[in-house]
Amino acid sequence: MHTAKPRITIFDTTLRDGEQSPGCSMTVEEKLRMARQLERLGVDVIEAGFPIASDGDFEAVRQIAQQVRRPIICGLARASQQDIARAWDALQHAAHPRLHVFLATSDIHLQFKLNMTREQCLQQAAESVAYARSLCTDVEFSPEDATRTDRAFLVQVVQAVVDAGATTVNIPDTVGFTTPTEFADIITMLRREVRGIESVVMSVHCHNDLGLAVANSLAAVSAGARQVECTINGIGERAGNASLEEVIMATRVRADLYPVETAIHTAELYPSSQLLTEITSVDVQPNKAIVGRNAFAHEAGIHQHGMMKNPLTYEIMTPQSVGVPDSKLVLGKHSGRAALNLHCQRLGYQFDRRQLDEVYRRFVALADQIKMVEEHDVLQMIRDAHPELTPQFDSLISTPANIATVSSTQTGQGYGAQA
Ligand code: KIV
Ligand code: ZN
Repeated sequence: MHTAKPRITIFDTTLRDGEQSPGCSMTVEEKLRMARQLERLGVDVIEAGFPIASDGDFEAVRQIAQQVRRPIICGLARASQQDIARAWDALQHAAHPRLHVFLATSDIHLQFKLNMTREQCLQQAAESVAYARSLCTDVEFSPEDATRTDRAFLVQVVQAVVDAGATTVNIPDTVGFTTPTEFADIITMLRREVRGIESVVMSVHCHNDLGLAVANSLAAVSAGARQVECTINGIGERAGNASLEEVIMATRVRADLYPVETAIHTAELYPSSQLLTEITSVDVQPNKAIVGRNAFAHEAGIHQHGMMKNPLTYEIMTPQSVGVPDSKLVLGKHSGRAALNLHCQRLGYQFDRRQLDEVYRRFVALADQIKMVEEHDVLQMIRDAHPELTPQFDSLISTPANIATVSSTQTGQGYGAQA
């Protein structure tokens, strides 16, 4: 019998938490451009900003709310009437508005940041959610620093905001402190202990201080969370938030372990990553999963040989499935004859074994001295080894399906060009 898979709401906070990463702030126009791309990507919720934080942020949320009509548009507010009213001002013309109210609940935040007792916190959380509900039917509440909050108190706070009318309860791992098993335990406990929790959406929001944001988010999904908060390229406060592209591709590639559905168009992942990089001028690390420039690049000879026979030997998803045009076979000191031959063919040279050996000998010597051998180096080596030959493009043997060769300058620029 076919059972429907649970649908996970993808809540993108690139424009709010993501923007809080150093160097990633965006103008109103840039936020609008990014919001339109997030809509194309298929996210369910766009957290567009923190309206009380600045006039610019207010304006960005207001314009996104007016112009981006398919997703829910969310604005963040502290648990105070003034913040919530300001956020509502910015959001009220959205096709689908959401108010997101947060208040810290851990003792360390209550004592040192808010100077508040647990009782005061409980009351303020409930009152602010009730006020937000008087303005908007869609209200999310986040107990900030939830994973360092006393568990019995966390249950009390979540109970209070559910009773006050929150429609989504988000559990943030604000300082990236938790681990997958511990986080799954917290979600399971809340689902067991809070009355009426089944009628609200349980959400998670993980930071990456221990490099566990994606793993923690996935563990929470397995424990019953139905909304994941994440960002493009994993940008966000300090070490960042859970990376949207990694969460999505983990659920797609390992659908056997995560039998859930999302509305994400995965072919828009790489364009979204590229657009964010273009807007912020903050590059992603080359080895970043899914969208880093090395995510589908192969240098080792053994790997290149496998890739040429069947890409499934060393790739668990196709580059095209995430919007990357091609895999790349990069020439370096670990590369073998097969990849060199492929490059030679693409440059118009069809060699027999002896001719290729002559080029390969030069290649090995050069590759030992420089980090990456570029296309013009290969061409020079061919000319030195075989000055009598000219390229023959009509005899070109086609590259195995979906694999491009590439020089280091091209890898430096991303995946746009093919050799
Ligand atoms: O990390 C955090 O706790 C937050 C909240 C505002 C959800 O970003
Ligand atoms: Zn956060």
